[in-house]
Amino acid sequence: MTTPDNEPDDDGPSMVEGLALSGLAAFSSLVVVLFIGAVVYGIAYGRPSDERRAELAMQEAVSDEAGQIQVGEQVYASACASCHGRLGEGGVGPSFAGVTTRLPDVADQIQVVVEGRGQMPAFGASLTDEQIEAVIAYERTVLDGP
Ligand code: HEC
Repeated sequence: MTTPDNEPDDDGPSMVEGLALSGLAAFSSLVVVLFIGAVVYGIAYGRPSDERRAELAMQEAVSDEAGQIQVGEQVYASACASCHGRLGEGGVGPSFAGVTTRLPDVADQIQVVVEGRGQMPAFGASLTDEQIEAVIAYERTVLDGP
C-alpha cells in the first residue's frame, strides 16, 4: 500500500506537528480563559453602577465644597475680617447676617467684592477668581447667621 503524497513519510514531522497543534490548542484555550476573565472582571469592577457613580460624585462635591469653605475662611480672615468683623458681625462694613436675603443673586455679591462699593474696596485685582468665589461661599454659608 502506498501512502498518499500529502501524508508525512515518517513519524518525525507528524510528532512536531502534533506538538504544535496541542500547543495551539493550549494557547487558544488560554486566550478564551483570559477573555472570559476580562469580561467578568469588567462587569464586576470596571463599570461602577449608576448608583455608585452618583455616590462618588457626591463625595467629591462635598469635599470640594469643604475645601472651598476652608480657602474662603483664610481669605476672609486676611482680607475682610478687619472691616466686617472676625465672625462677620460687622464693623466698618456691614454684618453678613442675612446677606443672602439682601443679595439673593450671588452675582451681585461677586460684583461688590470685585468692583467695590462706597467704602468697600475692590478686590478684583488682588484676589483670584477662586479666592473670591471661596470667600463669598464662606460669607453666604458660615457667616450668614440669624
Ligand atoms: C476697608 C474695609 C473693608 C474691607 C477690607 C472689606 N469690606 Fe466689604 N464692605 C465694606 C463696606 C464699608 C461695605 C458697605 C459698602 C456700601 O454699600 O457702601 C462693604 C460691603 C460689602 C458687601 C456687601 C454686603 C451687603 O450686605 O450689601 C460684601 C459682600 C462685602 N463687603 C464683602 C467683602 C469681602 C468678601 C471682603 C474681603 C475680600 C471685604 N468685603 C472687605 C468695607 C470693607
